[in-house]
Amino acid sequence: MDNKTFFRDKVIVITGASSGIGRDAALAFSQFGSKTVLVSRKEEKLNYVKDEIQSKGGEALVIKADISSFDDTLKIARDTILKWGRVDILIACAGKYVQDITGELDIQSYQDSMALNFFGTLNVIKSLLPGMKQQGRGHIVIINSLDAKKGIIGDAPYVSAKAALDGFGDVLRQEMKPFNINVTSVYPGRVDTPMIENLEVPVISRKISPGKVVNAIIKGIKRNRATVTVPSLFSFVGILNYLMPRFMDWSYKVFKLEGKPVSKS
Ligand SMILES: NC(=O)c1ccc[n+]([C@@H]2O[C@H](COP(=O)([O-])OP(=O)(O)OC[C@H]3O[C@@H](n4cnc5c(N)ncnc54)[C@H](OP(=O)(O)O)[C@@H]3O)[C@@H](O)[C@H]2O)c1
Repeated sequence: MDNKTFFRDKVIVITGASSGIGRDAALAFSQFGSKTVLVSRKEEKLNYVKDEIQSKGGEALVIKADISSFDDTLKIARDTILKWGRVDILIACAGKYVQDITGELDIQSYQDSMALNFFGTLNVIKSLLPGMKQQGRGHIVIINSLDAKKGIIGDAPYVSAKAALDGFGDVLRQEMKPFNINVTSVYPGRVDTPMIENLEVPVISRKISPGKVVNAIIKGIKRNRATVTVPSLFSFVGILNYLMPRFMDWSYKVFKLEGKPVSKS
């Protein structure tokens, strides 16, 4: 089935729609005739995305919400149901790259990362699940990271939250099956978005375009994949790290996969 037939009239909630992968996803789905719900904290940026969607004949609803607050996420469920009566697909994309390069276990950085990357994603899912259960169908896409499969030096707060999300997604997929709600976890490598604009990375983990991740999301939904890794070449990372963690530590070190701050010259 082509994308327009598959996604036409689907109500798709996208968190993190003001920037990067979420923004590109909103633009792509609206071109297929989906009704997109754009969620993030910065209303002005969301309105730019909405204008772009509407200028191409698409439909969008803007909801300003901080997903680290459960009360805010209840607003997402309420306003979407009021406008379109249902939620067919959730793309849980909002997230933040939080490092602790001090190596001193800066607890605050872990709390910040968990509050958004883990609990924020949970909040959104919890607020939308009752509606999906009631209608007897739905699809939840969790935008995770390859970092959940192999930790990178300096990234422990981000890696920890994404690894927690990895476990959560794995259980949620099994628990939601009887309710006819599909769950897909997506694991991108490095992506060229504002999130890591200050990070220079080696060629082996060069940044892919957000559009490439969006294409992987689209295929993942249509084929109801449990997991999607993009680029797909990196699908082996988790298995190799399980079987040969010290070899993977060595490779990440040799290839300098942690990257370095963009040099300002
Ligand atoms: N870029 C990469 O290399 C990469 C790699 C693997 C996975 N990912 C994952 O992909 C997802 C999207 O990241 P991106 O690269 O597209 O980053 P991005 O361009 O920085 O976008 C992040 C989005 O999250 C939103 N957001 C941040 N905090 C929020 C909050 N408290 N409540 C609601 N929305 C919030 C931001 O909007 P506001 O500022 O308007 O709130 C923005 O729309 C993230 O989950 C990230 O972990 C990214």
